[in-house]
Amino acid sequence: MKEIPSFPVKITKIIEETPGIKTFEFDRDFEFLPGQFCMVWIPGVDEIPMGLSSKNSITVQKIGEATSALFNLKAGDLIGIKAPLGNGFSLKEGRTLAIAGGVGAAPLRPLALLGIADAFLLGARTKEDLVYAEELSELTDLHIATDDGTFGHHGFVTDLLSEVDPLSFDTICVCGPEIMMAGILRILESLGIAEKGQFSLVRYMKCGVGICGSCCLDDDGLRVCRDGPVFTGDKLLKSSEFAKYSRDASGRRIYGGSGGH
Ligand SMILES: Cc1cc2nc3c(=O)[nH]c(=O)nc-3n(C[C@H](O)[C@H](O)[C@H](O)COP(=O)(O)OP(=O)(O)OC[C@H]3O[C@@H](n4cnc5c(N)ncnc54)[C@H](O)[C@@H]3O)c2cc1C
Ligand code: FES
Repeated sequence: MKEIPSFPVKITKIIEETPGIKTFEFDRDFEFLPGQFCMVWIPGVDEIPMGLSSKNSITVQKIGEATSALFNLKAGDLIGIKAPLGNGFSLKEGRTLAIAGGVGAAPLRPLALLGIADAFLLGARTKEDLVYAEELSELTDLHIATDDGTFGHHGFVTDLLSEVDPLSFDTICVCGPEIMMAGILRILESLGIAEKGQFSLVRYMKCGVGICGSCCLDDDGLRVCRDGPVFTGDKLLKSSEFAKYSRDASGRRIYGGSGGH
């Protein structure tokens, strides 16, 4: 197995996307497929998985110890980036739809930057939690939903599927809280197009390269870091784990809110 090194990169710019989400740009470009991720080493703290939001950036939601430490860094500080990791979205000829909830927009953004996203459904709790909305409106056919109705459709991003015709798309790329992705999968299944859905999963990762087994999915043991993070809807319909539970650092099952982006 070819080992991917962790490259030291200097943070060049920090953009505050929302009160709890920042984009960190760095001084090195990585070749990657939309949906692939990196392991981010935060010196003295931890190494954590993050989607690549462009060839030289990650977009991070402040959750716990490592992401809080990242939020304390400034332009000029160094972090380590190991990339590209995972499979990324498998893009077919034809039309592509992107569906994002919250910071789940991060791994989908490259589809819009590359001009691949024909339409983009973006959801967030409130107007101020919307990520990349202005940029995306210039790059793609953007549809917005907020839970509290402060911008766009008042409701969930799943509702926006009625504003576009899912059957007119060949690939449907989805990333967000697992409960939201399960809602999208149910709709695609009812239309008979579950296999067109490509869902980017979040699981607790230690090695990020397929060795430790901490990210294995029940029943078949697929590793989210090596076999994913992107899985097609027909595969997830057979999983006993998807949208039911995830596992914490010690492997204990966590029910509800699994893999929340
Ligand atoms: C392939 C992949 C891509 C990812 N891409 C991104 C990305 O682009 N942007 C981004 O912001 N995050 C992304 N994540 C999630 C990110 O890795 C975690 O949020 C991060 O590791 C949390 O680290 P922490 O040390 O700050 O929190 P921890 O100290 O590990 O956790 C603090 C608390 O938050 C909970 N928690 C931990 N992880 C998550 C989570 N993912 N969702 C909800 N609660 C959690 C823990 O249970 C704990 O209670 C990705 C994860 C994977 C697997
Ligand atoms: S994180 Fe170690 S096998 Fe996936």
